[in-house]
Amino acid sequence: MTIQWFPGHMAKARRQIEEKLKLIDLAIELLDARIPLSSRNPMIDEMIKRKPRLVLLNKCDLADPAVTGEWTDYFAERGLRALSVDSLSGYNVNAILPLGQQILAEQIEKRRNKGLKPRAIRGLIIGIPNVGKSTLINRLAGRKIAETGDRPGVTKGQQWIKAGAGLELLDTPGVLWPKFEDQEVGVRLAITGAVKEEILSVVDIAFAAVQYLIRRYGTALGERYSLARVPAPEEAADRGTVVAIMEEIGRARGCLKSGGVVDLDKASSVILRDLRSGKLGKISLERPSDGGFA
Ligand code: G4P
Repeated sequence: MTIQWFPGHMAKARRQIEEKLKLIDLAIELLDARIPLSSRNPMIDEMIKRKPRLVLLNKCDLADPAVTGEWTDYFAERGLRALSVDSLSGYNVNAILPLGQQILAEQIEKRRNKGLKPRAIRGLIIGIPNVGKSTLINRLAGRKIAETGDRPGVTKGQQWIKAGAGLELLDTPGVLWPKFEDQEVGVRLAITGAVKEEILSVVDIAFAAVQYLIRRYGTALGERYSLARVPAPEEAADRGTVVAIMEEIGRARGCLKSGGVVDLDKASSVILRDLRSGKLGKISLERPSDGGFA
């Protein structure tokens, strides 16, 4: 779903999340494991402040596991516990509660010392659109939760969803906007499909994707499309090479216009569909070691 984020929407989304944060023990920040920085809301730290937080690197099934490991360390170095999960298959979803209990150990201990009965941890899932909030809520709840209106302007009565024995979630996740003021971030969001293609042309998005693949995952690209030759990483800087590879893919996939000219729009859609569905393998589009997309 594409949301048009205007300043009024942003202010409202922020207010709503700040209200919800008052009701909960643990903020569960959902990021896309392929682009953990680009899928972060720019104001999230300011909003969550000192509230205990768990970072989830979702869609880890699509991300490069070694790079996801680097990201987990990256967050740990910044005092944030991070866990990679796949909300579709349920991988690691069972580890959320024990990790939440570790993060809240002090608070849980305090309750116990006061003689209060132990209670479920109350959590709020927060993230940008399409990062997988509803999928995770459904997975944790073990059933499909009714469409909650994933829009900044929609308000509904808050309800708690039981997510296993020790966890309760607010039924409406916190929906925040991505960092679109940065062009590179916008491109990465578009490559993953988090923002729709109206913003940039499909050819521009695929061009950036192929450029990155040449730089980092040339072998996977060569294998998937049986390229005549695997380009060297430094060739990513050469516009002509990148376009030639897109054309080679288009020809191999029968994306042709009349006269045998490659239909770059169609070829671009094929490349992006393959990348987003994992057919090119497990690909991360940002790494902490190089500060991101470089
Ligand atoms: P949201 O509430 O944060 O907006 O996201 P939502 O759960 O709707 O998930 C967005 C898309 O991401 C869905 O694909 C969903 O299946 C997919 N998804 C969520 N978690 C994971 C995961 O861990 N791994 C993978 N591979 N996919 C995941 P969709 O229904 O096809 O939607 P769309 O891609 O057509 O937008």
